[in-house]
Amino acid sequence: MTNTHFYDKVCVISGASSGIGKALALHLAQKGAIVVLAARNKPALQELAEQIRQSGGNALPIPTDVTQPEAVENLIQTTLKSYHNIDYLFSNAGQYTRSRIVDMKTELLKQSFEINFYSHVYFTQAVLPHMLKKRQGHIIFISSMDAKKGLPLDAPYVSAKYALAGFGDVLRQELNGSGVNVTIVFPGRVDTPLIGHLKVHWISAKISAERCAKGILHGVQKNKAEIILPPQTYLLYYLQVFSPRLADFAVRVFKLEGSEKE
Ligand SMILES: NC(=O)c1ccc[n+]([C@@H]2O[C@H](COP(=O)([O-])OP(=O)(O)OC[C@H]3O[C@@H](n4cnc5c(N)ncnc54)[C@H](OP(=O)(O)O)[C@@H]3O)[C@@H](O)[C@H]2O)c1
Repeated sequence: MTNTHFYDKVCVISGASSGIGKALALHLAQKGAIVVLAARNKPALQELAEQIRQSGGNALPIPTDVTQPEAVENLIQTTLKSYHNIDYLFSNAGQYTRSRIVDMKTELLKQSFEINFYSHVYFTQAVLPHMLKKRQGHIIFISSMDAKKGLPLDAPYVSAKYALAGFGDVLRQELNGSGVNVTIVFPGRVDTPLIGHLKVHWISAKISAERCAKGILHGVQKNKAEIILPPQTYLLYYLQVFSPRLADFAVRVFKLEGSEKE
């Protein structure tokens, strides 16, 4: 039997110009979803929309800087005007910033929070009134495995991703019984431009954006509260739950923080 879960559903995807967001858009379009594509890179969004349309899909590119609450509101309202509904919000846009805490500029931390935390808050606040009114919808936040175990040098990114995980955890409980679902995704390393400059140990080998997108959609379809992927990532997660010091040791021994490529 064909899987029709996402068929004809309106899916807003932030960070759709690249990596995981782009892979999500392509997979969802293939499954017959209407995809609304958001990111700043207008040519990349238009090219993706064209690719989707040429394969018979339905895509609407809306160039948006997701750190601007008015721009996010405009994106949601434009989508509602065009399709009268939003079934899924994939709040995925993000940016990776590194700095050793002792040298960290507060400005860098604030910048990371704008994109990796507040943009998700803006999306939630913009889309929730509609979803609550319809008593139906699903919000998916792309956090990071870094929000289960922080890695050295990643404080600006890790702090914002932990904040996002906390926000999503509360939101899921507050929305219990409302008809609106919440899923938080914690990916390990994924082969995208976000971490293209990082050399990583084999043990935290990168998975493809396509594999990540497939894993996300599988979990969303099952309405999972949390999705951790790929499966080997669970090792570090369980180690951290059992003993943070043992997990610190594993991070050191396997150099899990990665290093800059020469
Ligand atoms: N790659 C990994 O290993 C990994 C692991 C765990 C979690 N994640 C998370 O997965 C998500 C997707 O990342 P990715 O790996 O696919 O990275 P990517 O290929 O670099 O894509 C990041 C996306 O975010 C968008 N974006 C960044 N700033 C934006 C802004 N101000 N307004 C609108 N869009 C913005 C970018 O589009 P524009 O530049 O066109 O705006 C791009 O489409 C992120 O939240 C990331 O933290 C990634």
